[in-house]
Amino acid sequence: MIISTEQPTITNTQFLTETLEGLSTEPKRMYSKYFYDEAGDLIFQQIMDMDEYYLTNAEMEIMKRQSAEIVNTIAADGSGFDLIELGAGDATKSIHLLKTLIDKNMDFKYFPIDISAHVISELEDKLPAIFPTLNLQGLNGDYFEMLQKATEISTRKKVVLFMGANIGNMSVDEAREFCINLKALLSLNDILIIGFDLKKNPKKILAAYNDKGGITRAFNLNLLSRINRELGGDFNIDGFEHYASYNPETGECKSYLISLEKQTVKIGNSTFNLEKDEYILMEISQKYAQQEIEELAGLSGFKVAAYFSDEQGYFVDAIWEVA
Ligand code: AVI
Repeated sequence: MIISTEQPTITNTQFLTETLEGLSTEPKRMYSKYFYDEAGDLIFQQIMDMDEYYLTNAEMEIMKRQSAEIVNTIAADGSGFDLIELGAGDATKSIHLLKTLIDKNMDFKYFPIDISAHVISELEDKLPAIFPTLNLQGLNGDYFEMLQKATEISTRKKVVLFMGANIGNMSVDEAREFCINLKALLSLNDILIIGFDLKKNPKKILAAYNDKGGITRAFNLNLLSRINRELGGDFNIDGFEHYASYNPETGECKSYLISLEKQTVKIGNSTFNLEKDEYILMEISQKYAQQEIEELAGLSGFKVAAYFSDEQGYFVDAIWEVA
């Protein structure tokens, strides 16, 4: 059964409102959560397959090689729990954790949450075919609304999975607020498994967001095409170039689109002027040091129980417990 709160009109209104608001601020910005329409999903798949984009392989290695230890950490007392995945996608990484939990005969129910109804129905078809004994209930909608729903469905211990360095697409302040809000929906001893991309050689990071094949460029430009298509915009896609930067001091990796000419853009009834060389901030991918992960946990009411890292030390899945 899929539980859905899909409200297409409201979602589109929010897309328009946030786009107009972002283009009215100084400097101009967009919200990367809108990258993921059908074309954006496909481009992101290509990004994950790129040689330069080390994040996916690093987290995959953690899940493949260390699922048994992760399970020992999250289910040490052997009691039953709900495993709730925020932004489950195609579950290619969490599938290793699910397999280990099933092999160990753990008593758990899997609640994948995703904003895409399509993603949830695919999971509901695919996963029972692979794991016939898996107890699964898809939740389609906003993370917090669906997490709230999960707490109403069951009062068992919660283990929340938030992988893929999705926390990195928030600024440090937004990430703190997100973790505080998440903690407010959890109870003492509930667990959060959260993926962070670590600070490392700046060239390695920059290359992941500035690939030679221009896939990240296409990912960013696709949002302009989406605005043209869905919000009645008239962006000249050829009038922009992609620029990525990484600041090793702050850990901020930022993607921009730079206007190649002085231009006017219309979105519905609104008009925006861009100077030549003016930039639009498209996305932040924040990188963390272990110390900063510890601080974030403490500030939002969690304590770190364990870290699981890949061999190269690029990425970490941290296990946090509600303190
Ligand atoms: C989804 N998110 C964690 C990706 C990241 O690394 O920030 C999105 C992405 N943007 C460009 N490449 C990948």
